Amino acid sequence: MPWNPTQYHKFNAERSAPFDDLLKLVEIRPHLKVVDLGCGTGELTLRLADSLPNSDVLGLDNSPQMLERASVHARSGLRFQSGDQSLLSGDWDLILSNAALQWTENHNALIPHLFAHLNANGQIAVQIPSNHEHTSHRIIREVAAREPFRTALDGWIRYAPVLPIESYAEIFYRLGAEKIIVFEKIYTHVLADSAAIVEWISGTALVPYFERIGNLREEFAQTIRAEMKKAFPETPVFYPFKRTFFSAFKTQ
Ligand SMILES: C[S@@+](CC[C@H](N)C(=O)[O-])C[C@H]1O[C@@H](n2cnc3c(N)ncnc32)[C@H](O)[C@@H]1O
Repeated sequence: MPWNPTQYHKFNAERSAPFDDLLKLVEIRPHLKVVDLGCGTGELTLRLADSLPNSDVLGLDNSPQMLERASVHARSGLRFQSGDQSLLSGDWDLILSNAALQWTENHNALIPHLFAHLNANGQIAVQIPSNHEHTSHRIIREVAAREPFRTALDGWIRYAPVLPIESYAEIFYRLGAEKIIVFEKIYTHVLADSAAIVEWISGTALVPYFERIGNLREEFAQTIRAEMKKAFPETPVFYPFKRTFFSAFKTQ
């Protein structure tokens, strides 16, 4: 997908709070072999690397645009590489992912695959947005189902693959994981107006639509802006953002 690092960075402050909460779940130990899946522009991978003494941290992403930005943060003990998170190989003491696994389908298969690549005593710690039933996301799907967008998108509509939180707990239990933690948290953002919601989702949820919709991109964005204004006429706009966290350890 054509990720735009500049657009993505517009809501940096709002996006770093969940990372802070994710980092609190990480057991800080020295000399870990770590991978950050969907590392994006690498600032948060750098914070991860800085908090893990003498560790070897790899930021993995499949977007050349994001990796280009990330490369400036490379240093001894921190490198960045192109790769698909769903095809992770190698053995890791910590697999971390912040706001990226929602871009890979079939979490019932993905989570066991990642878990299989943990060393003994290894930890997986993940944060994923789970606000796909928020009105803003419903509007995207409704507009995508309307003509002329429906034809331009060939009927394609994106449904987030994120599972109910109890499913993650169940997957880890069945994998024999230990110290399983799963929870949801609402981040209470207050944005200037409905246009700010569109700005936010232009850097994330709309990216795969923009990629597919060709020259109807601006018309699609305008229609979403108009629908968002109808749904959120007030200023400022309260934007409760639900996120799912999970962490688990492999004992053997
Ligand atoms: C919302 S950004 C999160 C970036 C970073 N982790 C952060 O929290 O700022 C999602 C990232 O996942 C990456 N991504 C999406 N699908 C991926 C895949 N299959 N393999 C690797 N990276 C992927 C995107 O390129 C993007 O950089």
